[in-house]
Amino acid sequence: MNNHERLLGILEEGSSDYVSGEEISRRLSVSRTAVWKQINKMRELGYNIDASSRRGYRLISQPDRLEASKLADMLNTQSFGQRIVVLDSTVSTQQDAMRLAEEGAPEGTLVIAEEQTAGRGRLGRKWYSPRGKGIWMSIVLRPTQPLAFTPQLTLLTGVAVCRAIRRLTGVEAGIKWPNDLLIHGRKVSGILLESATEDQRVRYCIAGIGIDVNLNVEDYPEELSHVGTSLKIEAGLEVDRTALIAAVLEEMELLSKLYAEQGFQPIAMLWEALSVTMNRSVQAHTGQGIAVEGTAVGLDPSGALVIETNQGERIQVISGDIQL
Ligand code: BTN
Repeated sequence: MNNHERLLGILEEGSSDYVSGEEISRRLSVSRTAVWKQINKMRELGYNIDASSRRGYRLISQPDRLEASKLADMLNTQSFGQRIVVLDSTVSTQQDAMRLAEEGAPEGTLVIAEEQTAGRGRLGRKWYSPRGKGIWMSIVLRPTQPLAFTPQLTLLTGVAVCRAIRRLTGVEAGIKWPNDLLIHGRKVSGILLESATEDQRVRYCIAGIGIDVNLNVEDYPEELSHVGTSLKIEAGLEVDRTALIAAVLEEMELLSKLYAEQGFQPIAMLWEALSVTMNRSVQAHTGQGIAVEGTAVGLDPSGALVIETNQGERIQVISGDIQL
């Protein structure tokens, strides 16, 4: 146990009572100045500790930290989240999950981090992943379908995250094709599906999920302040990240079973019902880079978005972004 953990233990023992600086310094065998410095470090990490010159220190609240054991206790799944890796800080959970998949990690293996220093978004963009405020996680998938079907997994993941958010917070998030989750027109979550292939065979996919959970308005950098939002901002209260991760994993497992048993059709129906793209006027680019304008009328059997132009022509858009 390091000094941080020992100090936390002493404050937790004290429960709602103050523990004197003298007692802490004696039990940790450090000076009272060292105790004061340690308390300040803990405050920087999100611990709320009251200090009184006469009575000492009292722990008021602890930061909401991700713990594998807490998540495992909440989980009601057979494969998703049966192996959990929690990291304090990492470059990108996509990289960590890929390494585990290469080493043979089974379907449903989960990597979560408190912060990512270079989180990745779709289309080469960066993903802002501040410490302790969101869910930055990657799941190993081992699909048996050919590569051409992987866009369906992206849509399945979007449906899972959307259903979990709605179930847990009551906030009516909607899906913008292919899988941005929006609340009141602002992005609250994004999904990045990356695949490793060999001769057109999918070896594994990594479903990367980013959810802005407890960010405050002032946590957003200028470039995101008008386009991003968090569940806390929208729901008006802190959301338990562990409970939301558990809900996402449960939805992923449920939908993956449905997909294995009945194919993409029921997933497409769920997606269409949760989508904010359907029956809207949109602009998009086809895989060949041709600009298309029209009304989004649904998904085709592969998961491509079907746009009906003003001339009545139906065009499929496989990848990229759309403007509503
Ligand atoms: C997007 O909307 O552009 C997709 C964002 C995906 C972000 C998640 S956060 C966890 C995982 N690790 C990453 O580096 N990216 C994904």
